[in-house]
Amino acid sequence: MALVKVATLDNLKPGEARTVIVSGKEIALYNVSGKIFATTNACAHEQGPLGQGSLEDNVITCPLHGWQFDVETGSCRTVPGLKIETYRVEVRGKDILVDV
Ligand code: FES
Repeated sequence: MALVKVATLDNLKPGEARTVIVSGKEIALYNVSGKIFATTNACAHEQGPLGQGSLEDNVITCPLHGWQFDVETGSCRTVPGLKIETYRVEVRGKDILVDV
C-alpha cells in the first residue's frame, strides 16, 4: 500500500463524487461536507461507475440501477451484508491522497 496523490480539494467540492485512476485501479472519490472518502469505482451489482453516481450525505447511488452504498464503510444499503472496498484517504493541504 502506498499513499498516492489523486486529486485536489479544488476539483472535488462538497457533495461531489468523481472517478480517478490510480495505479491501474478505478477509484471513486467523495466529498461529504468536506470529509473525503474513497471506494472502488465498481458497483457490487454490475460494476456500474459509482464515481458518476449521485452523492447525498454519505450515500452514493449507482447511476445504473440505483443501488446505494455508504461511502465511509462501503456497506451496501440495498443488499444488507454486501460491502465494497474502501481506501484510506489523507488530505495534506489541498492534496487528496489515497492509500492504494
Ligand atoms: S451496476 Fe450499480 S446498481 Fe446495477
